[in-house]
Amino acid sequence: MATYRIALIPGDGVGGEITDEAVRVLDAAAEIHGFEISTASYDWSCDRYLEVGSMMPENALELLSDFDSIFLGCIGDANKVADHISLQMLLTIRKGFDQYVNLRPIKLYPGVYSPIETASPETVDILVIRENTEGEYSSNGGIFKRGTPDAVALQTGVFTWKGCERAIRYGFEMARQRNKLGGSPAGRVTNCTKSNALNYSMVFWDEVYDFVAKDYPDVETDMALVDALTMWFVKNPDWFDVVVASNLFGDIITDLGAMLQGGMGFAAGGNVNPEGTYPSMFEPIHGSAPKYTGKRVVNPIATIEAVRMMLEHLGETEAAVHVQRAIATTLGSGEVKTRDMGGSATTDELGAAVVAAMRTNA
Ligand code: IPM
Ligand code: MN
Repeated sequence: MATYRIALIPGDGVGGEITDEAVRVLDAAAEIHGFEISTASYDWSCDRYLEVGSMMPENALELLSDFDSIFLGCIGDANKVADHISLQMLLTIRKGFDQYVNLRPIKLYPGVYSPIETASPETVDILVIRENTEGEYSSNGGIFKRGTPDAVALQTGVFTWKGCERAIRYGFEMARQRNKLGGSPAGRVTNCTKSNALNYSMVFWDEVYDFVAKDYPDVETDMALVDALTMWFVKNPDWFDVVVASNLFGDIITDLGAMLQGGMGFAAGGNVNPEGTYPSMFEPIHGSAPKYTGKRVVNPIATIEAVRMMLEHLGETEAAVHVQRAIATTLGSGEVKTRDMGGSATTDELGAAVVAAMRTNA
Protein backbone atom coordinates (compact mmCIF):
# COMPACT_ATOMS: atom_id res chain seq x y z
CA MET A 1 0.00 0.00 0.00
CA ALA A 2 1.37 3.41 -0.92
CA THR A 3 2.19 5.64 2.02
CA TYR A 4 2.49 9.38 1.58
CA ARG A 5 4.40 11.45 4.07
CA ILE A 6 2.77 14.84 4.44
CA ALA A 7 4.28 17.76 6.36
CA LEU A 8 1.71 20.03 7.97
CA ILE A 9 2.48 23.66 8.68
CA PRO A 10 -0.68 25.12 10.23
CA GLY A 11 0.92 28.56 10.64
CA ASP A 12 -0.95 31.41 12.29
CA GLY A 13 -4.48 32.50 13.11
CA VAL A 14 -7.09 30.09 11.78
CA GLY A 15 -4.34 27.85 10.39
CA GLY A 16 -4.84 25.22 13.10
CA GLU A 17 -8.54 24.72 12.57
CA ILE A 18 -8.30 24.52 8.79
CA THR A 19 -5.39 22.09 9.00
CA ASP A 20 -7.64 19.81 11.08
CA GLU A 21 -10.07 19.78 8.13
CA ALA A 22 -7.26 19.05 5.68
CA VAL A 23 -6.23 16.03 7.74
CA ARG A 24 -9.80 14.85 8.09
CA VAL A 25 -10.27 14.82 4.31
CA LEU A 26 -6.86 13.26 3.67
CA ASP A 27 -7.60 10.47 6.14
CA ALA A 28 -11.00 9.79 4.60
CA ALA A 29 -9.51 9.72 1.09
CA ALA A 30 -6.79 7.33 2.28
CA GLU A 31 -9.25 4.97 3.91
CA ILE A 32 -11.63 4.91 0.95
CA HIS A 33 -8.98 4.70 -1.76
CA GLY A 34 -6.54 2.35 -0.09
CA PHE A 35 -3.41 4.31 0.66
CA GLU A 36 -1.79 5.56 3.82
CA ILE A 37 -1.01 9.02 5.06
CA SER A 38 1.57 9.77 7.68
CA THR A 39 1.80 13.33 8.88
CA ALA A 40 4.19 15.43 10.92
CA SER A 41 3.23 18.88 12.09
CA TYR A 42 5.55 21.86 12.44
CA ASP A 43 4.63 24.82 14.64
CA TRP A 44 6.41 27.38 12.47
CA SER A 45 4.60 30.63 13.07
CA CYS A 46 4.63 34.14 14.45
CA ASP A 47 4.37 32.70 17.96
CA ARG A 48 7.57 30.79 17.36
CA TYR A 49 9.15 34.00 16.10
CA LEU A 50 8.22 35.75 19.33
CA GLU A 51 9.65 32.89 21.36
CA VAL A 52 12.89 32.10 19.56
CA GLY A 53 13.38 34.86 17.01
CA SER A 54 12.64 33.00 13.76
CA MET A 55 9.56 31.71 11.98
CA MET A 56 11.18 28.37 11.20
CA PRO A 57 14.45 26.66 12.13
CA GLU A 58 17.55 27.02 10.00
CA ASN A 59 17.30 23.44 8.76
CA ALA A 60 13.61 23.81 7.83
CA LEU A 61 14.10 22.93 4.17
CA GLU A 62 16.18 19.93 5.11
CA LEU A 63 13.41 18.72 7.41
CA LEU A 64 10.73 19.24 4.77
CA SER A 65 12.72 17.63 1.98
CA ASP A 66 11.90 14.15 3.30
CA PHE A 67 8.17 14.57 2.67
CA ASP A 68 6.12 13.73 -0.39
CA SER A 69 4.11 16.91 -0.04
CA ILE A 70 3.49 19.86 2.24
CA PHE A 71 0.19 21.30 3.45
CA LEU A 72 0.45 24.91 4.52
CA GLY A 73 -2.38 26.54 6.48
CA CYS A 74 -1.84 30.27 6.52
CA ILE A 75 0.89 32.58 7.73
CA GLY A 76 0.96 36.04 9.23
CA ASP A 77 -0.28 37.94 12.23
CA ALA A 78 0.67 41.58 11.90
CA ASN A 79 -0.05 42.24 15.57
CA LYS A 80 2.81 39.94 16.44
CA VAL A 81 5.29 40.13 13.56
CA ALA A 82 5.40 42.45 10.55
CA ASP A 83 4.01 40.67 7.49
CA HIS A 84 7.08 41.26 5.35
CA ILE A 85 9.10 39.35 7.92
CA SER A 86 6.71 36.48 8.68
CA LEU A 87 5.82 35.87 5.04
CA GLN A 88 9.44 35.38 4.06
CA MET A 89 8.86 31.87 5.35
CA LEU A 90 6.39 31.17 2.56
CA LEU A 91 8.62 32.73 -0.07
CA THR A 92 11.68 30.86 1.24
CA ILE A 93 9.94 27.51 0.81
CA ARG A 94 8.64 28.41 -2.65
CA LYS A 95 12.07 29.48 -3.81
CA GLY A 96 14.14 26.98 -1.83
CA PHE A 97 12.19 24.05 -3.26
CA ASP A 98 12.09 25.55 -6.73
CA GLN A 99 8.30 25.43 -6.72
CA TYR A 100 8.29 27.47 -9.86
CA VAL A 101 4.68 26.86 -10.83
CA ASN A 102 1.95 28.38 -8.75
CA LEU A 103 -1.14 26.56 -9.93
CA ARG A 104 -4.31 28.49 -9.21
CA PRO A 105 -7.54 27.03 -10.53
CA ILE A 106 -10.51 29.37 -10.60
CA LYS A 107 -13.73 27.42 -10.71
CA LEU A 108 -17.18 28.33 -9.47
CA TYR A 109 -19.06 25.42 -7.98
CA PRO A 110 -22.83 25.22 -8.46
CA GLY A 111 -24.61 26.51 -5.38
CA VAL A 112 -21.94 29.11 -4.61
CA TYR A 113 -22.74 32.80 -4.88
CA SER A 114 -20.18 35.03 -6.59
CA PRO A 115 -20.45 38.80 -6.15
CA ILE A 116 -19.53 39.12 -9.83
CA GLU A 117 -22.66 39.02 -11.96
CA THR A 118 -21.12 37.38 -15.01
CA ALA A 119 -19.82 34.49 -12.93
CA SER A 120 -21.62 31.16 -13.21
CA PRO A 121 -20.40 27.56 -13.11
CA GLU A 122 -20.56 27.64 -16.92
CA THR A 123 -18.48 30.81 -17.33
CA VAL A 124 -15.84 30.42 -14.64
CA ASP A 125 -13.25 27.74 -15.30
CA ILE A 126 -9.82 29.31 -15.51
CA LEU A 127 -6.38 28.02 -14.61
CA VAL A 128 -3.81 30.65 -13.72
CA ILE A 129 -0.17 29.59 -13.91
CA ARG A 130 1.76 32.08 -11.85
CA GLU A 131 5.55 32.10 -12.09
CA ASN A 132 6.51 31.51 -8.48
CA THR A 133 10.22 31.93 -7.87
CA GLU A 134 11.42 35.13 -9.48
CA GLY A 135 10.10 38.22 -11.27
CA GLU A 136 8.98 41.00 -8.99
CA TYR A 137 9.43 38.70 -5.94
CA SER A 138 13.17 38.25 -6.37
CA SER A 139 14.01 40.12 -3.17
CA ASN A 140 16.69 42.19 -4.83
CA GLY A 141 17.14 45.74 -3.72
CA GLY A 142 17.57 47.84 -0.68
CA ILE A 143 16.64 50.97 1.12
CA PHE A 144 19.31 53.64 1.17
CA LYS A 145 19.60 56.71 3.35
CA ARG A 146 16.58 55.44 5.24
CA GLY A 147 15.02 57.99 7.55
CA THR A 148 16.58 60.92 5.75
CA PRO A 149 14.99 63.25 3.19
CA ASP A 150 17.14 61.52 0.54
CA ALA A 151 15.78 58.04 1.23
CA VAL A 152 15.68 55.75 -1.80
CA ALA A 153 14.13 52.29 -2.23
CA LEU A 154 15.05 49.88 -5.02
CA GLN A 155 13.24 46.63 -5.72
CA THR A 156 14.52 44.96 -8.84
CA GLY A 157 12.49 42.42 -10.77
CA VAL A 158 14.56 39.52 -12.05
CA PHE A 159 13.33 37.71 -15.14
CA THR A 160 15.48 34.86 -16.41
CA TRP A 161 14.84 33.15 -19.74
CA LYS A 162 14.81 29.77 -18.02
CA GLY A 163 12.50 30.98 -15.26
CA CYS A 164 9.96 32.49 -17.65
CA GLU A 165 10.16 29.64 -20.13
CA ARG A 166 9.50 26.80 -17.72
CA ALA A 167 6.43 28.49 -16.20
CA ILE A 168 4.99 29.48 -19.57
CA ARG A 169 5.67 26.03 -21.03
CA TYR A 170 3.82 24.48 -18.12
CA GLY A 171 0.85 26.66 -19.02
CA PHE A 172 0.85 25.39 -22.61
CA GLU A 173 1.06 21.80 -21.41
CA MET A 174 -1.90 22.42 -19.11
CA ALA A 175 -3.92 23.92 -21.95
CA ARG A 176 -3.42 20.68 -23.90
CA GLN A 177 -4.39 18.57 -20.93
CA ARG A 178 -7.40 20.52 -19.76
CA ASN A 179 -9.29 20.41 -23.01
CA LYS A 180 -11.71 23.06 -21.80
CA LEU A 181 -12.75 24.69 -25.03
CA GLY A 182 -15.06 22.58 -27.15
CA GLY A 183 -14.22 24.19 -30.48
CA SER A 184 -10.52 24.28 -29.82
CA PRO A 185 -9.47 20.92 -28.48
CA ALA A 186 -6.11 22.03 -27.21
CA GLY A 187 -7.33 25.10 -25.43
CA ARG A 188 -5.98 28.60 -25.19
CA VAL A 189 -3.19 30.28 -23.24
CA THR A 190 -3.58 33.96 -22.47
CA ASN A 191 -0.36 35.85 -21.89
CA CYS A 192 -0.88 38.26 -18.98
CA THR A 193 1.62 41.02 -19.63
CA LYS A 194 2.35 44.71 -19.35
CA SER A 195 4.85 45.15 -22.14
CA ASN A 196 3.37 48.48 -23.20
CA ALA A 197 4.96 50.05 -20.12
CA LEU A 198 7.52 47.61 -18.70
CA ASN A 199 9.83 47.83 -21.66
CA TYR A 200 12.48 45.42 -20.39
CA SER A 201 10.95 42.77 -18.16
CA MET A 202 7.63 42.33 -19.89
CA VAL A 203 8.97 42.72 -23.42
CA PHE A 204 11.36 39.90 -22.49
CA TRP A 205 8.48 37.88 -21.01
CA ASP A 206 6.52 38.30 -24.27
CA GLU A 207 9.52 37.10 -26.27
CA VAL A 208 9.68 33.95 -24.17
CA TYR A 209 5.91 33.46 -24.56
CA ASP A 210 6.18 33.74 -28.36
CA PHE A 211 9.16 31.36 -28.38
CA VAL A 212 7.30 28.71 -26.36
CA ALA A 213 4.04 29.15 -28.31
CA LYS A 214 5.80 28.00 -31.49
CA ASP A 215 6.06 24.51 -29.99
CA TYR A 216 2.28 24.38 -29.51
CA PRO A 217 0.68 25.22 -32.84
CA ASP A 218 -2.48 23.41 -31.71
CA VAL A 219 -2.95 25.75 -28.72
CA GLU A 220 -4.61 29.12 -29.27
CA THR A 221 -2.61 32.14 -28.17
CA ASP A 222 -3.95 35.37 -26.78
CA MET A 223 -2.63 38.28 -24.78
CA ALA A 224 -4.04 40.78 -22.33
CA LEU A 225 -2.31 43.62 -20.56
CA VAL A 226 -2.73 42.97 -16.87
CA ASP A 227 -4.83 46.06 -16.22
CA ALA A 228 -7.20 45.20 -19.04
CA LEU A 229 -7.19 41.57 -17.97
CA THR A 230 -8.74 42.49 -14.61
CA MET A 231 -11.52 44.15 -16.55
CA TRP A 232 -12.03 41.17 -18.87
CA PHE A 233 -12.03 38.73 -15.93
CA VAL A 234 -15.10 40.58 -14.67
CA LYS A 235 -16.76 41.26 -18.00
CA ASN A 236 -16.11 37.98 -19.84
CA PRO A 237 -14.68 35.31 -17.55
CA ASP A 238 -15.66 32.66 -20.10
CA TRP A 239 -13.01 33.94 -22.52
CA PHE A 240 -10.27 32.52 -20.37
CA ASP A 241 -8.83 29.04 -20.24
CA VAL A 242 -5.18 29.01 -19.08
CA VAL A 243 -3.53 32.30 -18.12
CA VAL A 244 0.24 32.60 -17.67
CA ALA A 245 1.45 35.45 -15.49
CA SER A 246 4.53 36.71 -13.72
CA ASN A 247 4.79 36.40 -9.96
CA LEU A 248 3.23 39.73 -8.96
CA PHE A 249 0.64 39.89 -11.72
CA GLY A 250 -0.38 36.32 -10.98
CA ASP A 251 -0.76 37.22 -7.32
CA ILE A 252 -3.03 40.14 -8.09
CA ILE A 253 -5.28 38.55 -10.69
CA THR A 254 -5.90 35.46 -8.55
CA ASP A 255 -7.46 37.50 -5.75
CA LEU A 256 -9.87 38.82 -8.35
CA GLY A 257 -10.21 35.23 -9.53
CA ALA A 258 -11.15 34.25 -5.98
CA MET A 259 -14.13 36.59 -6.19
CA LEU A 260 -15.20 34.91 -9.44
CA GLN A 261 -15.22 31.62 -7.56
CA GLY A 262 -17.23 32.93 -4.62
CA GLY A 263 -14.63 34.47 -2.34
CA MET A 264 -11.32 33.76 -0.65
CA GLY A 265 -12.91 30.85 1.18
CA PHE A 266 -12.92 28.86 -2.05
CA ALA A 267 -9.52 29.60 -3.58
CA ALA A 268 -6.60 27.19 -3.32
CA GLY A 269 -3.16 27.06 -4.81
CA GLY A 270 -0.38 24.59 -5.43
CA ASN A 271 3.28 25.58 -5.29
CA VAL A 272 4.60 22.94 -7.59
CA ASN A 273 8.04 21.64 -8.42
CA PRO A 274 7.01 19.71 -11.52
CA GLU A 275 10.17 17.58 -11.66
CA GLY A 276 9.55 16.26 -8.16
CA THR A 277 13.11 17.09 -7.12
CA TYR A 278 11.59 18.75 -4.07
CA PRO A 279 8.21 18.40 -2.38
CA SER A 280 5.39 20.61 -3.62
CA MET A 281 3.25 22.63 -1.23
CA PHE A 282 -0.52 23.15 -1.26
CA GLU A 283 -2.41 25.90 0.53
CA PRO A 284 -5.62 27.85 0.68
CA ILE A 285 -4.71 31.27 -0.63
CA HIS A 286 -6.55 33.23 2.03
CA GLY A 287 -4.83 34.89 4.98
CA SER A 288 -4.77 33.78 8.59
CA ALA A 289 -7.69 35.94 9.83
CA PRO A 290 -6.28 36.20 13.37
CA LYS A 291 -9.46 37.73 14.77
CA TYR A 292 -11.38 34.55 13.96
CA THR A 293 -8.83 32.22 15.57
CA GLY A 294 -10.52 29.37 17.40
CA LYS A 295 -14.01 30.52 16.44
CA ARG A 296 -14.33 27.86 13.74
CA VAL A 297 -16.17 30.18 11.40
CA VAL A 298 -13.91 30.15 8.35
CA ASN A 299 -14.84 28.30 5.20
CA PRO A 300 -12.77 25.09 4.87
CA ILE A 301 -13.48 24.61 1.15
CA ALA A 302 -10.26 26.38 0.05
CA THR A 303 -8.35 24.00 2.32
CA ILE A 304 -10.18 20.95 1.02
CA GLU A 305 -9.52 22.15 -2.53
CA ALA A 306 -5.82 22.36 -1.62
CA VAL A 307 -6.00 18.76 -0.44
CA ARG A 308 -7.70 17.77 -3.69
CA MET A 309 -4.85 19.37 -5.63
CA MET A 310 -2.31 17.59 -3.45
CA LEU A 311 -3.96 14.22 -4.11
CA GLU A 312 -3.88 14.91 -7.83
CA HIS A 313 -0.22 15.84 -7.60
CA LEU A 314 0.56 12.65 -5.67
CA GLY A 315 -1.00 10.65 -8.49
CA GLU A 316 -4.12 9.68 -6.52
CA THR A 317 -6.35 10.85 -9.34
CA GLU A 318 -9.43 8.88 -8.35
CA ALA A 319 -9.27 10.22 -4.82
CA ALA A 320 -8.88 13.76 -6.16
CA VAL A 321 -11.91 13.41 -8.43
CA HIS A 322 -13.82 11.93 -5.54
CA VAL A 323 -13.03 14.88 -3.27
CA GLN A 324 -14.10 17.23 -6.03
CA ARG A 325 -17.40 15.38 -6.41
CA ALA A 326 -17.98 15.53 -2.67
CA ILE A 327 -17.32 19.27 -2.61
CA ALA A 328 -19.71 19.76 -5.53
CA THR A 329 -22.46 17.69 -3.90
CA THR A 330 -22.10 19.46 -0.58
CA LEU A 331 -22.06 22.96 -2.01
CA GLY A 332 -24.77 22.10 -4.52
CA SER A 333 -27.16 20.96 -1.80
CA GLY A 334 -26.76 24.31 -0.07
CA GLU A 335 -27.51 22.69 3.27
CA VAL A 336 -24.30 23.51 5.11
CA LYS A 337 -23.02 27.05 4.74
CA THR A 338 -20.36 28.89 6.66
CA ARG A 339 -20.68 32.56 7.55
CA ASP A 340 -19.06 33.86 4.35
CA MET A 341 -21.78 31.97 2.45
CA GLY A 342 -24.55 33.54 4.49
CA GLY A 343 -24.99 30.55 6.80
CA SER A 344 -23.99 29.73 10.35
CA ALA A 345 -22.24 26.36 10.02
CA THR A 346 -18.84 25.97 11.63
CA THR A 347 -15.62 25.11 9.84
CA ASP A 348 -15.80 21.53 11.07
CA GLU A 349 -19.48 21.14 10.20
CA LEU A 350 -18.78 21.97 6.56
CA GLY A 351 -15.64 19.78 6.60
CA ALA A 352 -17.68 16.92 8.07
CA ALA A 353 -20.38 17.41 5.43
CA VAL A 354 -17.81 17.02 2.65
CA VAL A 355 -16.43 13.86 4.25
CA ALA A 356 -19.99 12.50 4.68
CA ALA A 357 -20.57 13.15 0.97
CA MET A 358 -17.35 11.24 0.22
CA ARG A 359 -18.57 8.26 2.20
CA THR A 360 -22.05 8.09 0.66
CA ASN A 361 -20.56 8.61 -2.76
CA ALA A 362 -17.56 6.30 -2.44
C1 IPM B 1 -0.32 34.64 -2.00
C2 IPM B 1 -0.02 35.68 -0.96
C3 IPM B 1 1.47 35.82 -0.81
C4 IPM B 1 2.05 36.25 -2.14
C5 IPM B 1 1.88 36.83 0.27
C6 IPM B 1 1.19 36.51 1.56
C7 IPM B 1 3.36 36.93 0.42
O1 IPM B 1 -0.64 36.88 -1.27
O2 IPM B 1 0.11 33.48 -1.83
O3 IPM B 1 -1.00 34.95 -2.98
O4 IPM B 1 2.08 37.44 -2.46
O5 IPM B 1 2.48 35.38 -2.88
MN1 MN C 1 -1.98 36.76 -2.96
